[in-house]
Amino acid sequence: MSVSLKDCSKALAYLQEYAEKDGLSAEQLMDSKTRGGLTYNDFLILPGKIDFPSSVVSLQTKITKKITLNTPFVSSPMDTVTEAEMAIQMALLGGIGIIHHNCSAEQQAEMVKKVKKFENGFINSPIVVSPQATVGEVKAMREKFGFCGFPVTETGSLPSKLVGIVTSRDVQFIEDNSLTISEVMTKELVTAKVGVTLAEGNDILKTTKKGKLPIVDENQNLVSMLSRTDLMKNQSYPLASKSATTKQLLCGASIGTIEADKERLQLLMQAGLDVVVIDSSQGNSVFQLNMIKWIKQTFPELEVIAGNVVTREQAASLIEAGADGLRIGMGSGSICITQEVMACGRPQGSAVYNVTQFANQFGVPCMADGGISNIGHIVKALALGASCVMMGGMLAGTTESPGEYFFQDGKRLKTYRGMGSVDAMQKTDTKGNASTSRYFSESDKVFVAQGVSGAVVDKGSINKFIPYLYGGLQHSCQDIGVRSLASLREEVDNSVIRFEFRTASAQLEGGINNLHSYEKRLHN
Ligand code: IMP
Repeated sequence: MSVSLKDCSKALAYLQEYAEKDGLSAEQLMDSKTRGGLTYNDFLILPGKIDFPSSVVSLQTKITKKITLNTPFVSSPMDTVTEAEMAIQMALLGGIGIIHHNCSAEQQAEMVKKVKKFENGFINSPIVVSPQATVGEVKAMREKFGFCGFPVTETGSLPSKLVGIVTSRDVQFIEDNSLTISEVMTKELVTAKVGVTLAEGNDILKTTKKGKLPIVDENQNLVSMLSRTDLMKNQSYPLASKSATTKQLLCGASIGTIEADKERLQLLMQAGLDVVVIDSSQGNSVFQLNMIKWIKQTFPELEVIAGNVVTREQAASLIEAGADGLRIGMGSGSICITQEVMACGRPQGSAVYNVTQFANQFGVPCMADGGISNIGHIVKALALGASCVMMGGMLAGTTESPGEYFFQDGKRLKTYRGMGSVDAMQKTDTKGNASTSRYFSESDKVFVAQGVSGAVVDKGSINKFIPYLYGGLQHSCQDIGVRSLASLREEVDNSVIRFEFRTASAQLEGGINNLHSYEKRLHN
């Protein structure tokens, strides 16, 4: 029997004969009438062609109409995820942190201020001593902090006039521990004025051979400090998210939809806030619509991210009210029991696809919030139309997340809890308890929890973790064959990028199998 073989050298040309490309378009994949709601694990993206190195892939993206970042990473406004330290590090690494509001307005504003005032390499709240402190006290501080090099200020606190500096050399050989610091401190100081750049400050440290360089304002008040020991450690952050005008790091914060949140926002604005997230599990409420309108009238320059939404109808309301960005997700969070308790929500893949298909027509960027537990999920969220991803559990348990580490079953852990967990809702040190208002539970006698409280394993610093996500995302785009997130979106819209639905057994196949034991290390 003769088989008519086609000419191998024309394989690509023969492809044209097929009516459709291999795989499914996003629209076909997401046809909920035939397939129901999909989550990230329910599908895969088919590979394209690689003709560029992964390092050229640009991950630049918008998080609101006016704010563009170099990475699509946002940390969630949860009290076990984002406070000042996380927000600073996220912004340095090219993302943005949204500071939670399960605290007083003053505390939250203080955190925003800390992010806005942060200058890479500068010690912004140096430990200071008073001239009346004793040598014995400073020796004890040396033991406690593991270093000795404390600026001396008039009042022994900040802000206050710098009057000297006390270092190891000043106290080392003094046996009389009752002497005051004013008697032994170094008074001839080399200082620099506020506004000095890191490079200029480092040059002064090198040429003067000093260990510390206090930075003072025009009235000689101590503002910050540079330390010689940090010289080598000062990293550069080429992707950092900064305001084009002030060069300060960008910072976000969440608020609720009750009256007290208006006062809260005033304080946050005074602290220098760049973007506000209206934090509600069900965003399509009159409270939120009124809040958006009020913000747009009162602070027209402030970017507002509204949500959460999972349907086109919810999105339309918020877009019409003036939202500059949307937050998508209901029930997909790793600590979330909303779908179980409220019977409301939507599988996250379908939620992201349906909302972004609508919102993108209006130029309103969307963030896929919740359910991200690996790099693959991030790529899939972006391929379905999201502009960025918001992460809670992925960033919990890192050095920068709030809370102390503790040990359990031989593992080093940190608490990670839902803002709708009873624990979070019971937090009482707030005026308009943020956590309850997220779930419209302010007046409830019995809290109906929508989240749980748990623990996650120590992940180390996000200084390593975010670059791992960044590199992974670049490699994934390379496999798909796109050089930027913008092309990823465009080629999904044009049905050039194709998808495959994943059966339950396909999901098993895609995981690790048939090993007696293994160690899953994600990065070095
Ligand atoms: P994760 O990244 O999967 O851990 O999800 C984090 C997201 O879950 C947050 O950004 C919120 O949208 C959502 N979330 C936070 N707390 C709760 C809760 O208690 N119940 C339901 N969803 C929550």
